[in-house]
Amino acid sequence: MKISINQAAKYEGQQVTIGCWLLQKRGSGKIQFLQLRDGTGFMQGIVVKENDADLFEKAKGLTQETSMYVSGTIKADDRSDFGYEMEVDGIEVIHASEGYPITPKAHGPEFLMDNRHLWLRSKKQHAVMNIRNQIIKSTHDFFFENGYKKIDPPILTSSSPEGTTELFHTKYFDEDAYLSQSGQLYAEAAAMAHGKVFSFGPTFRAEKSKTRRHLIEFWMIEPEMAFYKHEDSLEVQEQYVEYLVQQVLEHCRLDLGILDRDTSVLEKIRAPFPRITYTEAVELLQEKGFDDIEWGEDFGAPHETEIANHFDKPVFITNYPKEIKSFYMEENPEDPRTVLCADLIAPEGYGEIIGGSERIHDYDTLKQKIEESGLGLEAYEWYLDLRRYGSVPHSGFGLGLERTVAWLSGVQHVRETAPFPRLLNRLYP
Ligand code: 4AD
Ligand code: MG
Repeated sequence: MKISINQAAKYEGQQVTIGCWLLQKRGSGKIQFLQLRDGTGFMQGIVVKENDADLFEKAKGLTQETSMYVSGTIKADDRSDFGYEMEVDGIEVIHASEGYPITPKAHGPEFLMDNRHLWLRSKKQHAVMNIRNQIIKSTHDFFFENGYKKIDPPILTSSSPEGTTELFHTKYFDEDAYLSQSGQLYAEAAAMAHGKVFSFGPTFRAEKSKTRRHLIEFWMIEPEMAFYKHEDSLEVQEQYVEYLVQQVLEHCRLDLGILDRDTSVLEKIRAPFPRITYTEAVELLQEKGFDDIEWGEDFGAPHETEIANHFDKPVFITNYPKEIKSFYMEENPEDPRTVLCADLIAPEGYGEIIGGSERIHDYDTLKQKIEESGLGLEAYEWYLDLRRYGSVPHSGFGLGLERTVAWLSGVQHVRETAPFPRLLNRLYP
């Protein structure tokens, strides 16, 4: 019977075969412990010399990443987190791997990134991708269960929602085009047709940032809701993030264990989340001795981390000054210097994971903002149409997938959260 490692529990006591790779092995002159992996999980195979001397010699000669069919009996094993191991009685090598570059010794990040196509096989990287997958699945579950429709915005675009400095230019035959920075403007159009929508796709920022939070290509989840005020959107955000955290805790227990993630801090992530205004945040930072920040300036990573450290949950920083936010944000009636927006800052120094706002729905106001931003009205005529024909208050937000994966996995750098991250100076592999 051919099974996969994650089915082992169902086959306890039975003779099975698994197609797998050798992650590592250790042993003595009498017994070999084979660390097997098959993509679905990791399991130990045991080969005892006394039982079969030829098989023992074969096992001893296996090299790292050799692919094979391993046969034997599944046994319960209380000592491992996985709970099962195999008493091996047959090994059929498919391909003997020689000189695998990623050995059990420590390697530097640049070497590992050069070998990303192989590094993906390692136990920790496998765990991070499992968590990424769970977040992808839970995102679909959350929004579909709550009555949202998935609308896919284009990737080749003629407009720039988040300013013009970070655009990837390309040619669209004879026209100029940009790779999408955000699907938001298209999601707004879709919300006027479908009410509640979300997009989930790749976005691109030609940002010369080389930090542990920045990717050049990242995936964003962008819900957009007609008739939702900013407050309503904040509630969706905290429920969504709580759901993601709790689903990861429930379904990724082994992965979190492999990553040594402190799950007690994640257990506490329950809605509602605390909120402070930008103005309060500036005051708090000044009290804490950050004399480099003044009202009107944007926060950097150290500022966000300082604010986050005051809470054990993600925190919303609301109502930023107009000048440092995008053109489409609705003015805050209580303080017209600011807009109806919020950034959600993750705990433990992971920084901003969500940016969201209520959108301007008045035609004249939006038109003026586009002109002031120097964006050129022509490319935004269709966007202005949404305010010409049955405009309604609406709100939405964007959650960065990789930053969320980094936070929940507890990995320090977003480069480990995308299968093939695009970074400043890295397009290979
Ligand atoms: O704050 P941002 O730029 O917001 C928007 O793009 C809005 N149009 C979203 C919306 O309202 N529909 O980006 C949203 C999120 C950030 O909070 C962050 O998590 C992630 O996208 N993000 C990045 N992640 C990795 N690398 C980068 N360079 C990122 N830039 C933004
Ligand atoms: Mg932002």
